[in-house]
Amino acid sequence: MEEKKKKLLIIYHSQGGTMKKMADRFAKGAAKETNIALVYKQAAEAQIDDLLSCSGIAIGSPEYFGTMAGLIKDFFDRTYEAAKDLTIGLPFVVFVCGGNDGRGAITQIERLAAGYKWKKVQEHRRIVGSPTENDLADLEELGQTLAAGIDFGIF
Ligand SMILES: Cc1cc2nc3c(=O)[nH]c(=O)nc-3n(C[C@H](O)[C@H](O)[C@H](O)COP(=O)(O)O)c2cc1C
Repeated sequence: MEEKKKKLLIIYHSQGGTMKKMADRFAKGAAKETNIALVYKQAAEAQIDDLLSCSGIAIGSPEYFGTMAGLIKDFFDRTYEAAKDLTIGLPFVVFVCGGNDGRGAITQIERLAAGYKWKKVQEHRRIVGSPTENDLADLEELGQTLAAGIDFGIF
């Protein structure tokens, strides 16, 4: 019988396309680990079952008005009560883009992840302005690292 693949959930929000470009590269890297099933969704489309069934989560958010995008927060608002006791220790990474900063978004997502008691397994990434090819290649590698770590059960 085929073993059920572990899932990696990648959620993102993008209004202007920058975060979509970043999240696409992260997902491209994660997809290299073929033992892992990818669930790659805009945060507005992601549901509680996506969260409860994943073995790791990556969150891609632009900084808007000094914090995470509203629809990223909305995903957490919608899932917290049902997920908080069932996702303790979930490995997570965050990547953020900002026009000139991005630190507020990272800080707020870190606070929220602390509420769920998730486990930070890699340094979060913060890209200011347009991502360079080096930035995108780094995100691709980060995606693969997270997926491989989940596959091998090292996180
Ligand atoms: C409504 C709005 C608010 C923003 N607020 C911030 C901010 O507080 N700090 C920052 O660094 N960039 C801010 N920006 C710039 C965006 O973070 C930046 O353009 C980002 O790349 C947008 O990602 P997206 O194209 O995926 O939507 C803001 C942009 C918008 C549209």
